[in-house]
Amino acid sequence: MTMTALSATAPGKIILFGEHAVVYGQPAIAVPVSIVQARAVISAIPAAPNGQVRLIAPDIHLDSLIDELPDDHPLVLAILLTAGHLGAQRLPAMQVHLSSSIPLAGGFGSSAATAIAIIRAVSAFLGRPLSNDIVSELAYRVERRQHGNPSGIDNTVVAFEQPVYFVRGQPFETLIAARPFTLVIGDSGVQSSTAAVVADVQRLHQADPESIDRAFTAIGDIVRQARGYIQAGMIDNLGELMNHNQRLLKELTISSPELDLLVEAALANGAMGAKLSGGGRGGNMIALVSPQTASRVERALIAAGAVHTWITTVAPILGPTE
Ligand code: MEV
Repeated sequence: MTMTALSATAPGKIILFGEHAVVYGQPAIAVPVSIVQARAVISAIPAAPNGQVRLIAPDIHLDSLIDELPDDHPLVLAILLTAGHLGAQRLPAMQVHLSSSIPLAGGFGSSAATAIAIIRAVSAFLGRPLSNDIVSELAYRVERRQHGNPSGIDNTVVAFEQPVYFVRGQPFETLIAARPFTLVIGDSGVQSSTAAVVADVQRLHQADPESIDRAFTAIGDIVRQARGYIQAGMIDNLGELMNHNQRLLKELTISSPELDLLVEAALANGAMGAKLSGGGRGGNMIALVSPQTASRVERALIAAGAVHTWITTVAPILGPTE
């Protein structure tokens, strides 16, 4: 067992197509974005008794021994599940310092990324780094505690750090873009709980299963077409699919006035397509742009109320770059 300080990071993510319908078995496409990331740094606490674990996360004003926190606190759970998986009865005295540039409750997969950074750092600190499969599985268990009914796409794309074509309960497919494409991400600044929106959609589904299933099926068709276009490098065709996906998400009541304004501003300023990304009702939207229109769309998003924008490129084979 090693005792030096160790750190691990995990990127954020965006959903390109298929959010919410993916919870009900339709495919979805997500890509990692390393322009935002969570980092966990673990160091030994010399002379403290085994089992004493201090968790410090300044972003959420947390500084506590984990014994003083509930066992189902997501960050504590990430530590305990990792120790349990490795059969570590008692952890060495250690300090876990978590920091993150990923906006909270914003559609960027912050909860999956923080859990994964911790799982990676703890397992490395114990001298037994885990495979991406196990990291993803442990993070899914943390996500379930927080989100109730997550599809598993967030923990998968964040753990494997590759663009994924994902169907719940099936092995994921790495999606290889034949040509790079550029997205502008706009943060509406409105925090929104994915768990609450997923629960609302469930209520809608219970009230009118036929029409909601019709919308989910239409979203699934969009995702399958998008996979083909991305693999064939037919990027120009993705814009209309994004707009169609957004219309269906609006029908499902998942957009918001702030997100609608951002989508309209992007389209009016040269974006080829735009939609919300992630849980919705707040958080992020994405716009498909050319390298020439990217900064104009960024400026338009800020003017329309975005609190932050990022430009990201989904590149062939290697996944997204900054
Ligand atoms: C959240 O990033 C994506 C949702 O589809 C929820 C999920 O798949 O667990 C809204």
